[in-house]
Amino acid sequence: MLTSASAIPRVPAFDSSLALWREGYLFVSNRCNTLATDAFRTRIMMREVVCMRGPAAAEQFYRPGRFTRRGAIPRTALALLQDWGSVQTLDGEAHRHRKQMFMDMMDAAGIGRAISIFRAEWQAALARSPRRVRLHDLAREALARMAIVWTGLPLERADPKRRTAELSAMIEGAGGFGPGHLRARLMRRRSERWARQMIEQIRNGKLSVGADSPAARIADHRDLTGAQLPSEVAAVELINLLRPLVAVARFIAFAGHALQVHRNAVEHLAPGLPDADMEAFVQEVRRYYPFFPMIGGRVLQPFSWSGHSFAGGDWVLLDLYGTNHHPEAWQEADRFDPQRFRGWQGDAYSLIPQGGGGFIAGHRCPGEWLTIALMIEASRRLLAASYTVPEQDLTIPMNRFPALPVSGFVIELA
Ligand code: HEM
Repeated sequence: MLTSASAIPRVPAFDSSLALWREGYLFVSNRCNTLATDAFRTRIMMREVVCMRGPAAAEQFYRPGRFTRRGAIPRTALALLQDWGSVQTLDGEAHRHRKQMFMDMMDAAGIGRAISIFRAEWQAALARSPRRVRLHDLAREALARMAIVWTGLPLERADPKRRTAELSAMIEGAGGFGPGHLRARLMRRRSERWARQMIEQIRNGKLSVGADSPAARIADHRDLTGAQLPSEVAAVELINLLRPLVAVARFIAFAGHALQVHRNAVEHLAPGLPDADMEAFVQEVRRYYPFFPMIGGRVLQPFSWSGHSFAGGDWVLLDLYGTNHHPEAWQEADRFDPQRFRGWQGDAYSLIPQGGGGFIAGHRCPGEWLTIALMIEASRRLLAASYTVPEQDLTIPMNRFPALPVSGFVIELA
């Protein structure tokens, strides 16, 4: 239980679950703005929680060893996103060791290979596409195929259409309950069965993949005791690469949305611009648009902050979207402006769409550099392509996790 003597204010509502579902990404910021605070106490799903936002809160949240993700993420989301046994459910030395495996895949060669596969798959997806297409669908198809090839698995044995549908269902269903969620769990089980077969076939030599490929690294990975990962856990980690790579399609749809809706802010962009200029645009897309709303942690090492004692087991939600829009960290935070990232020195606690802090010592997303590189490549392709944007509903509902423009951002290819 949280201590009652606390300088962190409590919101008057008995339980805030309904308000969270109603207000979505704005839930934490709405209350912080009203109470002139960066943290408040409430109940969600009848459980005591401290909600917090902003770079100072993120710095506390990402102190190595302070929080665990176990018991901190709703079971419904965990089952579709990370799942039991995955790197995100580990702590301490076991986490660092497994995390290193992921970071080793993200060197310049690994990212370069991913981008050249993506370029080819994007061109092929464009060539196959009907003239009128949802950019989100087009990007998903190219990314799913790229993810399969990049991890080292043979496309023909992966049934890319089916995998795209399953991986997409996991992403769509993660923020909800109801039939969509149950269908997504069924799809996840299918993907896990397939991924387990792939791991077992790599291990018994029936499937040969490049020795350095991500699939081989997972299949061969040894934990701290020197044992191979159980095949179910290796399958979970393989999906941990495939699923979020498909999720990058959302950021690509948002990049298309930004090029259309924030034309004044992007008129300087051209496909041939150096990476630094393209990166400023992509960083602003990652900062501005709503994707991963918040991340939960349960206190492992008690600490005090903001006049509040956080005891072992306390539940905390760090608002990622609210930190990316924090009124003091970002000037005119709700304005889309890539220029703010020109000459940006980087900061591990104010721009946290994929988590903050350090990569190895904490849970920050290991796919962040790859995500940025894929977004740069896709933005270049979009700037170079001839398409029009037909009349459609471009609004982005802020109470749907994960968010997307209502129309999925439809384009009409020339
Ligand atoms: C689509 C864009 C992406 C978003 C918005 C995103 C977001 C996140 C977030 C918020 C976390 C949790 C951070 C925390 O617990 O503090 C995370 C962790 C993780 N992400 Fe991503 N991610 C993305 C892309 C990727 C990609 C491309 C990969 C791999 C190819 C990836 C693999 C992972 C893994 C394995 C973890 C767990 C890390 C750990 O617990 O140490 N993600 N991501």
